[in-house]
Amino acid sequence: MTEQQKVYPVAEEFAANAWADNEAYLSLYQRSVDDPEGFWAEQAESLDWFKAPTKIKNTSFAASNVDIRWFEDGELNAAYNCLDRHLETRGDQPAIIWEGDDPGQDKTITYRELHAEVCRLSNALKEMGVTKGDTVTLYMPMIPEASVAMLACARIGAIHSVVFGGFSPDALAQRVVDAQSRVVITADESVRGGKHVPLKDNVDAAMTRDGTDIVDKVLVVRRTGGEIEWHDDRDAWYHEWVDRQSSECPAEKMNAEDALFILYTSGSTGRPKGLKHTTGGYLLYAALTHRYVFDYHEGEVYWCSADVGWVTGHSYIVYGPLANGATTLMFEGVPSYPTHGRLGEIIDKHQVSILYTSPTAIRALMAHGENIMDSSQRDSLRVLGSVGEPINPEAWSWFHRVIGNSRCPIVDTWWQTETGGIMITPLPGATDLKPGSATRPFFGVRPALLDNEGNVLEGATSGNLVLLDSWPGQARTIWNDHERFVQTYFSPYEGVYFTGDGCRRDEDGYYWITGRIDDVLNVSGHRMGTAEIESSLVAHSAVAEAAVVGYPHDIKGQGIYIYVTLGDDVEPSEELRKELTQWVRKDIGPIATPDVIQWAPGLPKTRSGKIMRRILRKIAANECEGLGDTSTLADPSVVDELIEHRANR
Ligand code: WTA
Repeated sequence: MTEQQKVYPVAEEFAANAWADNEAYLSLYQRSVDDPEGFWAEQAESLDWFKAPTKIKNTSFAASNVDIRWFEDGELNAAYNCLDRHLETRGDQPAIIWEGDDPGQDKTITYRELHAEVCRLSNALKEMGVTKGDTVTLYMPMIPEASVAMLACARIGAIHSVVFGGFSPDALAQRVVDAQSRVVITADESVRGGKHVPLKDNVDAAMTRDGTDIVDKVLVVRRTGGEIEWHDDRDAWYHEWVDRQSSECPAEKMNAEDALFILYTSGSTGRPKGLKHTTGGYLLYAALTHRYVFDYHEGEVYWCSADVGWVTGHSYIVYGPLANGATTLMFEGVPSYPTHGRLGEIIDKHQVSILYTSPTAIRALMAHGENIMDSSQRDSLRVLGSVGEPINPEAWSWFHRVIGNSRCPIVDTWWQTETGGIMITPLPGATDLKPGSATRPFFGVRPALLDNEGNVLEGATSGNLVLLDSWPGQARTIWNDHERFVQTYFSPYEGVYFTGDGCRRDEDGYYWITGRIDDVLNVSGHRMGTAEIESSLVAHSAVAEAAVVGYPHDIKGQGIYIYVTLGDDVEPSEELRKELTQWVRKDIGPIATPDVIQWAPGLPKTRSGKIMRRILRKIAANECEGLGDTSTLADPSVVDELIEHRANR
């Protein structure tokens, strides 16, 4: 039997102590789709409301009127739910355990301490003139101040926009301008794998770009003490502004539909889009999924290894766990530093019960052999989780056997920046596991598979994954561009939300996500728009045209393969290849570093001038047999030329 056909049944003792066994899952799921209003009204009682909602669900997916509201007359504050309500019962329990890049550095912050620090920063932001409804951009390392900053914004009703610390100054500037942030919070440097990344220098560079003069304060956390430039009129030290503030600050009463944050993500075309998430539905969905999917129990240490710059960090390092009063571990570094045993050593050191990580991290470790786990026991582990891309069955088994000592269920969680929280996933006490399958929908989630004409497909089949009805964690719109929100998600198929993913459903009703069916790449679990990389390349004077596709990559899942047509008088060379690689890296950020650049005298195009990416993808994957129909090409000979000089064989 191959790994893919194996089934890992739920252990009885696990089911007996879990939040949900299979029976509970089935009946709660049924209830959630039969009576969404009743189900979510009941779940909403798990949050603390200043004013409890009486209107529960008011949502429309009709393209002519996309309008999504949950709990619309309720009032609450996300930071209050993550902090204040825990003070009486677990004020002295660790809220955040921080593990530094250097194994000798760590820090524990209790709920009481976190509350006080968030209040101080809230007061500092107020002193800077930040008020309810303003946006604040965060460009931070993986340090507790990142969570503090998110919660401080939430506390005073400001909307945070976290930009991943690996993005370039241009990418940062673009997002600051789109969100119109007056305040940016950053650090002098971040530290990863022993290397320092000059965050503040990047902010300085971003602040020279058009439109960023709206920023009047840059608040800087001193992380390393590294040398930075200082602009007296604009820059402010975090410790100078925060330490002198009062540790009390009232939590602003927010409507459930007030924005909590914006988060930018890549689409198939155009610039990154700022998805807007709101307060009540998002928080409830993050908290409920965190509790059920990871079977979180009081007192456990939970570790999500994502970066706070991505949605996974928002929902499952900060909001979900803290709303549930959990102890959330935050790791500054990388799993391979100083040695490949680091991940296991952190688990032992902090007695981690639940580990949520990515296939790409697992594959990177796998490449170094099982012995790397000899330096740890990992006996504290109880549940493992995976997110970001399809997990191949080999990586699944390695995760299960080598990291989890063949003892722990793995929850393979499918979701998106747009969904706010986990959508298709096993529950560890309820779902028999099949390696590579995200299995079944979470409460309230109604997946369906459509053919290209929009017909609903039944039974065991493959198709385009859509969601038939709204759930509370759903993004409400794209910042400044509701039309694009409608176009992207609700126009491809009338009346449903289109995910952009392809998917198979098996005879047990289990879902197997097969990956993006649009022009979005998934590189090491990071979403990259091909159009973004292409427009970066054509901005280089040597480049006439560029086409970017993904190709299978052993560790990253997908690698970035670029076809470049040079300008008339430009000669290809190794130097130019290096220069273009650096160009994209600098323009977008290291995560967009090209893996392969192939010189392409011509690109395969239809007679109407459209690039046939299907063909480019096949050549990049070294699948040159059966390229399918090439008869619509304007010049079929370009294909032979590309095949002959393909770079991946
Ligand atoms: C992919 C990350 C297969 C998918 C939370 C989706 C997955 C995109 C899985 C969203 C999974 C995420 N199995 N594919 N378990 N999880 N994806 O917005 O293509 O960064 O559409 O959100 O990642 O990426 P995003």
